[in-house]
Amino acid sequence: MEILRIEDLTKNFYLHNAGKEIKSCHDIDFTLEEGQFIGIVGLSGAGKSTILKCINRTYLTTQGNIIYNSSAFGKLDLTKASEREMLYLRKYEIGYVSQFLNVMPRTTAKEHVMNALLEIGTPKEQAEKDAKDMLFYFRLAEDLWDLYPNTFSGGERLRLNLAHTMVTHPRLMLLDEPTASLDNKTKMLVKDMLIKLKDKKTSMIGIFHDLEFMDGICDKVFNISEGNMI
Ligand SMILES: Nc1ncnc2c1ncn2[C@@H]1O[C@H](COP(=O)(O)OP(=O)(O)O)[C@@H](O)[C@H]1O
Ligand SMILES: [Mg+2]
Repeated sequence: MEILRIEDLTKNFYLHNAGKEIKSCHDIDFTLEEGQFIGIVGLSGAGKSTILKCINRTYLTTQGNIIYNSSAFGKLDLTKASEREMLYLRKYEIGYVSQFLNVMPRTTAKEHVMNALLEIGTPKEQAEKDAKDMLFYFRLAEDLWDLYPNTFSGGERLRLNLAHTMVTHPRLMLLDEPTASLDNKTKMLVKDMLIKLKDKKTSMIGIFHDLEFMDGICDKVFNISEGNMI
């Protein structure tokens, strides 16, 4: 079953002060089947992150369609979906992990992971248990669980990000270099977790610099610089 189809996706930015248009990504076409993992590679600045941000609707698409086969809404074009639909999808169906941490102020690490579950109606006790399991899995030191993550190192933030997104088992995961600042051991944990999610039919699109990491999880690799799928 096709879960995502990207048709002719183009994103331009118009920089008013410079009077200049930047082509962030253009004419992107590919499809993602359920349970499949597509890796995106390409030069820095080629538009890899832009694709994921258009799917997550962090960016509004300039041209093209992003047809997503949602469990709640059926097929819908994410470039035209309503804000309400997008909010729902980001909570229940689409997970996005980047290198950067986005937490509400005065939220502890554990609360941050729990919140993802509480927002979708998981009872508090269960949410706390699952959050702890996930933090434990990603080896975030227990002393950190009740602290505010603004003082965390890059690697700790990243692990918290992953725990926050993966705890709800989204059916489509968008991963933007989520292993960038991780040591090898933690990278392997992430890889294990991704393989487990894949076994559960989670569909994923990931950007990784580390080609070795992609080996064994990616079904297809889309080279954005060359515009082809391998
Ligand atoms: N919000 C933005 N405003 C202006 N230009 C942007 C913005 N986001 C990305 N770009 C530009 O689009 C191009 C592609 O960026 P990006 O998708 O981040 O590349 P990659 O992830 O492949 O390194 C770059 O030239 C970048 O400067
Ligand atoms: Mg990028």
